[in-house]
Amino acid sequence: MNPSTFLSILFTLSMFFIYHASLTTSTINFKSYQVVCIEYGTQVSHDIKGCLKTLESDPRIPEAKTYDALSIFIIDQAVKNSTLSQNFLKNLMKTDPSPAIKQCANEDYDGIIKAFKNALAYVIHNPQTAINYLRKDLTNVVGKCLGALKDDPKPYFEVNVLISNVYFYQAVAEVSLNHLIGQ
Ligand SMILES: *[C@@H]1O[C@H](CO)[C@@H](O)[C@H](O)[C@H]1NC(C)=O
Repeated sequence: MNPSTFLSILFTLSMFFIYHASLTTSTINFKSYQVVCIEYGTQVSHDIKGCLKTLESDPRIPEAKTYDALSIFIIDQAVKNSTLSQNFLKNLMKTDPSPAIKQCANEDYDGIIKAFKNALAYVIHNPQTAINYLRKDLTNVVGKCLGALKDDPKPYFEVNVLISNVYFYQAVAEVSLNHLIGQ
């Protein structure tokens, strides 16, 4: 059984216990990233298993003991992931230089990467500012790319997948950063 499957089962069991015995995730000794994925799974999307698997691709993440470190590693992964997406779009642009692809590949992905980097810079000293970068700046640039895609008569399924990756990191990073606020 792989660790993610195991955790899904553990999660289901823990939900049972939470329901029946009013335990909370902090009572059971989950690792920080597991807590974040469980919260993401209950608040944002149901894909706890996908969240765990994606985050585990950085070996530092399962070892992260604090939410400071975890938030940094998550946003760092978001920067790398978005950079790869931008490279993909820049390549696509060579064969398909439509206005939408140009807009997303250049300006908008520059903005997405910048928003994640700005958030990264504020994790330690001002996590609320980091959240604001994720909420406002990121949502704003993602909206521009999605708007350009909508105006294009061609369907760009793969670009929508890349944008859904941005949404994943935006949500997971915010869940992690929330642990740093008001403590
Ligand atoms: C980017 O992140 C998503 C998870 O949201 C993952 O499925 C995908 O494989 C990542 N892409 C790269 C190129 O690492």
